[in-house]
Amino acid sequence: MDDDGNKPASKLRSARWFSPDDLRSFGHRSRLMQLGYSEEDFRDRPIIGVLSTWSELNSCHSHFRERAQDVKRGVVQAGGFAVELPALSVDESFTKPTSMLYRNMLAMETEETIRSHPLDGVVLMGGCDKTTPGLVMGALSAGVPMIYLPAGPMLRGNYAGQALGSGSDAWKFWDERRAGNISDAEWIGIQGGIARSAGVCMTMGTASTMTAIAEAMGLSLPGASSIPAVDSSHQRMSAECGRRIVEMVWEELTPDRIVTAASVRNAAIVAMAIGCSTNAVVHLIAISRRAGVDLTLDDLDALGRTTPLVANVRPAGQDYLMEDFYYAGGLRALMAQIAERLDVSALTVTGKSLGENLEGARVHNDDVIRPLSNPVYHEGSLAVLRGNLCPNGAVIKPAACDPRFHVHEGPALVFDSYPDMKAAIDDETLDVTPDHVLVLRNAGPRGGPGFPEWGMLPIPKALIKQGHRDMLRISDARMSGTSYGACVLHVAPEAYIGGPLALLRTGDIIRLDLPKRRLDMLVAEAELESRRAAWTPSSPRFERGWGWMFSRHVTQADKGCDFDFLERGFGAAAGEPDIF
Ligand code: FES
Repeated sequence: MDDDGNKPASKLRSARWFSPDDLRSFGHRSRLMQLGYSEEDFRDRPIIGVLSTWSELNSCHSHFRERAQDVKRGVVQAGGFAVELPALSVDESFTKPTSMLYRNMLAMETEETIRSHPLDGVVLMGGCDKTTPGLVMGALSAGVPMIYLPAGPMLRGNYAGQALGSGSDAWKFWDERRAGNISDAEWIGIQGGIARSAGVCMTMGTASTMTAIAEAMGLSLPGASSIPAVDSSHQRMSAECGRRIVEMVWEELTPDRIVTAASVRNAAIVAMAIGCSTNAVVHLIAISRRAGVDLTLDDLDALGRTTPLVANVRPAGQDYLMEDFYYAGGLRALMAQIAERLDVSALTVTGKSLGENLEGARVHNDDVIRPLSNPVYHEGSLAVLRGNLCPNGAVIKPAACDPRFHVHEGPALVFDSYPDMKAAIDDETLDVTPDHVLVLRNAGPRGGPGFPEWGMLPIPKALIKQGHRDMLRISDARMSGTSYGACVLHVAPEAYIGGPLALLRTGDIIRLDLPKRRLDMLVAEAELESRRAAWTPSSPRFERGWGWMFSRHVTQADKGCDFDFLERGFGAAAGEPDIF
């Protein structure tokens, strides 16, 4: 839009494809007409890509085909032309060996889809765990105006009158089943009741954490991340995304003006206040680095120490689920509640500041969204550990583990692979005590491969039968955001590339001191040196294809697990494509 409020269509990015009086533009116009559109439909209008991660194997996004129509309705109302484009679905449940192996594939696909097509702006439709960071990372690198449309959480689960939380209750009831306390009929009933509508997991797992982060960063419409997927408000919000993205194109409101050091910090504070998934650490760092903002583990630890947990939503909070959070006022209300800690001058997709977006927001249930004076925990959504086991860091979620493990010393019980651990863990003769520290290694970004969510290691059956439900566990893996327990995760550098975790042996004493943020193996340095000299690398996980490329270029957990060549600092941005 120029200074007089005119909308010069010649300045649209898509004009390069459609305006010149040449053979290529003739071809582009003719192909849209082949699709049934008239020139009146698209000429001189912003072309909006609706990037949908719909798939029939992504139950969290099963409403996206309808929502894409709502977005397109909004785009047309505002004078734009909308095209729906598919993007890799990266569903959390079915993608193996782990969806994290493909987050960067979605980011690359998003960036290159935007760059290579005549798109003036995009609405990104995601929600299931890796889709938010994947879409946002790619769109940040592409640089055209974008709005993030979150899938919204599913309705709370229900079985026999009891509210069920996705993930969290699956783990809990599985332990009870292993202990022999749940019948087949009950188990099937829980299976049918735990996920009963479209939408993402309705605990404050990775999905709801990341959509809240996108909104707090200014990339979603105010309140969008909290709306349940099947609420009619979600349809209206989708249409509003369509209307707003057209305006953003004319305003040239690109994401580099929105994602700044201030908005990244806001997002990190909000993450701590909602009791974020530990996965937020990896994704937030990766997103920040795409935007040229240097967010570190130490920054996150400092915010974790000083930010009270005010969202009383499982698993870090108690009792409530995302549906309750929405009825209590949702993320806008939470951000209004902690506004004194945020930089409310940060710009958002509305073209207004975060503070303006929060005007009028209020909490309707202060047990779900607590005041700063009465938080669920005064600190502790997330802590970053260092020590001779994790010189480049590891994370733990103090609020989600039994406080008796905050300072703990015990002998290590080490497993080199998930199959080894699985075989041992159900052996009721396993030599293990509640003070033991279970360790799984070779489960990091390169070793997993792909950094799987194995970090909530199962409690050995022998201990389950004695009534134990938590113990200290350490791995270089991640864990689901819906998981809980005394689980130290993301140990960096990972064992597979020779990190110190590779030197640990069963029986070594491990010491965790959470208040001091330390994690150490009590083994003499000379002994560690001789073990280091004897260590030999494992054979490559992949010899060709995507996995081969992933293994060569993925960064460690403390750097966000992006590919080194995709980070902003790697080289100059690709320019606009040639059109010949
Ligand atoms: Fe999609 Fe949990 S499986 S968000």
